Amino acid sequence: MLDSLRPQVLSILNEESESVDTRLGKICELLKSNVPYYDWVGFYFKNGDKQELKLGPYAGAPTDHTIIPFGKGICGQVAVSNQNFVVPDVSAQDNYIACSITVKAEIVVPLFVNGENVGQIDIDSNTPDPFTEADERFLEFINQEVAKIL
Ligand code: SME
Repeated sequence: MLDSLRPQVLSILNEESESVDTRLGKICELLKSNVPYYDWVGFYFKNGDKQELKLGPYAGAPTDHTIIPFGKGICGQVAVSNQNFVVPDVSAQDNYIACSITVKAEIVVPLFVNGENVGQIDIDSNTPDPFTEADERFLEFINQEVAKIL
């Protein structure tokens, strides 16, 4: 199912008349509306030269967490670890920033441009333990393709 979305991801990213933010927003909507266990999908990016993340395009409920310091929450940890972070049960995490009480699980995959961690894609799920390696490979693919238009 995830892999069947790859052509649509590429087609959205190729819409060169649209801004980068518009294209990223469309990717978020595509994922949220086609993957049943993706309930919130967003991109965070490093905020200039500050040691913090800033929320970019997203699909799903608005969040108060538009700025996240490096090291804080799942997102902030990925900003410093440079590694995928799959959380099957958010209630088992000490360093977690709750966006909604309905969220049960989260996956964050870093986005690299020329080897530098410049941001990440973040997915929240209301389904417990839904993410597999297929999600990691799919989200890595998306970030690699997004990196080409940044
Ligand atoms: N849960 C994240 C914060 C971002 S929201 O999920 C949109 C975290 O712990 O970093």
